[in-house]
Amino acid sequence: KPTPPSKAGKIGFKPVAPNTLDQVTIPTGYQTSVVIRWGDPVVPGAPAFNVDRQTAAAQSKQFGYNNDFVGVVPIPGSKDRALLVVNHEYTNENLMFRGFTTLDALSVEQVKVAMAAHGLSVVEIERSGRSGQWKPAKGYKLRYNRRITALATEFRLTGPVAGTAAVKTAADPSGKIVIGTLNNCAGGVTPWGTVLSGEENFNQYFVGGDAVSAETKTKLNRYGITTTARYPGDSRKWERAQERFDLAKHPNEANRFGWIVEVDPFDPEGRPRKHTAMGRFKHEGANVIVAKDGHVVAYMGDDERFDYLYKFVSEKKYIKSDAPWARKHNLTLLESGTLYVAKVTGDSPATEIDGTGKLPSDGRFDGRGKWIKLVSGNRSFVPGMTAVDVLTYTRLAGDAVGATKMDRPEDVQPSLRTGKIYAAMTNNTNRGVGTNAPADEPNPRNANKHGHIFEITEDRGDHTGLTFTWQLPIVCGDPAAADTYFGGYDKTQVSPISCPDNVAFDSAGNLWISTDGNALGSNDGLFATPIEGKERGHLRQFLTVPKGAETCGPFITGDDKSVFVAVQHPGEITGATVENPASHWPDGDFAKPAVIVTWKADGGAIGS
Ligand code: FEO
Ligand code: CA
Ligand code: CA
Ligand code: CA
Repeated sequence: KPTPPSKAGKIGFKPVAPNTLDQVTIPTGYQTSVVIRWGDPVVPGAPAFNVDRQTAAAQSKQFGYNNDFVGVVPIPGSKDRALLVVNHEYTNENLMFRGFTTLDALSVEQVKVAMAAHGLSVVEIERSGRSGQWKPAKGYKLRYNRRITALATEFRLTGPVAGTAAVKTAADPSGKIVIGTLNNCAGGVTPWGTVLSGEENFNQYFVGGDAVSAETKTKLNRYGITTTARYPGDSRKWERAQERFDLAKHPNEANRFGWIVEVDPFDPEGRPRKHTAMGRFKHEGANVIVAKDGHVVAYMGDDERFDYLYKFVSEKKYIKSDAPWARKHNLTLLESGTLYVAKVTGDSPATEIDGTGKLPSDGRFDGRGKWIKLVSGNRSFVPGMTAVDVLTYTRLAGDAVGATKMDRPEDVQPSLRTGKIYAAMTNNTNRGVGTNAPADEPNPRNANKHGHIFEITEDRGDHTGLTFTWQLPIVCGDPAAADTYFGGYDKTQVSPISCPDNVAFDSAGNLWISTDGNALGSNDGLFATPIEGKERGHLRQFLTVPKGAETCGPFITGDDKSVFVAVQHPGEITGATVENPASHWPDGDFAKPAVIVTWKADGGAIGS
């Protein structure tokens, strides 16, 4: 089937220069504005934000903290209204509360504010006039606007682990209803108009790991939960507000986090779901594509040094229809299926991969890969582990089958234009250090501090298949340095990039990449590059974010007129406070995370 013509196409903007300014910098000819910021009203009746009068009740109706994933879901029948769905990954209490000293010194109410500032927001937005600018909708009933929090929102577990002993607790003997979602990082919009959201670093919310059985400790350790201290130094102290975060008293509570969450933004009263069939790890996010035979396939990364890439293939098939009965069916697609983990090999001799990033003699970091089946429905393919074990302790299953240890897999997304899949390997400064695994062809640099992009091409274009080829189109860093690679493009013509985190596409299939933790010393930002043809690797910086911030989202609307970016943790610099902020963005006072939209002043396509 031919791909429909796109409005986007050739990239034509003049790149912005790397900088350390406390502002959003965009190319000439573009405009940008804040859509919504921390504390802005979401649910009708929300009180105006007052930094000195924060309550959990108010925060539960206001836009949360540290916006990460951004999805824009069109409202059927309207070109100018949409639902903005945003993850709120975590909180910076030192930048939220005046007079902050330590987490222990916060009041219990303040701890609950932080819990309510986690989760997601659903915000109806509308376009102003004909431009690509969007603002929160006014004058409607705003019936979809919703806050989902870690504090109080009920989620329903689906799939093989739901209702099993692994997830039963004193508060939930059914093992089916979980309060809250934690550390929601990236995500994706499904073809049926829901949003997927990854529960990532959920380990930091739990204490009491020292008091569990030796067997449980092994599992907690593999997920980064401390088992040697009663109150680990990096804990969020949430057990002060809700006892369930103390594993000494409620050892199964941690098993209820680390899942892919599906939110139906058109069902504001409904319980969002956590899909156990998609496995449990530090989920960065999930993005789905419909395979030729109708099964839906979700690609996923586990964001940890030396962890794995996964894919999930649904048992049932997608029905391409907006009819209510079809949507009801499509909403069940991620509840059952088969989970695979990637094993990746290079095609060049190991002796040619010296850990410096020097290209092997065939001129490419590339090779083949296999999807290893871990579990299908209730049947495990991992010796010694049940299906429930595999899905609850998926990292251990990946270890058991010898999956390939990658350099921190972040966002993984298929291009709907070509079907190729792009995964951001953000960095891994431990690669080849000490006794850690050395560089290999898919992760070719030791002490990899700038990361790379991993491209997968499924054999025969079959997303349900078991084999693929791969390449590294971009090895990030300073283009002037010998250890970087930009698809073979002239490196004097590309922008420096470090620590890719999220990927997205415009309708022409240009690859957009946002960064987290620029190790080159400048602020983070958003980049775009053609990924097919002669221009492959011609990467240009599209915007930069303010001091201390990370660039999240990005999301390009289907008409290519607008790109949404979440500016996460502006001013997150050691020693910064509300009184002494390291960033004054966006309002000139203390820093506030916010979602921005950028558009071309002449109405042209983003990137042109
Ligand atoms: Fe929350 Fe993997 O970045
Ligand atoms: Ca090679
Ligand atoms: Ca991320
Ligand atoms: Ca990040």
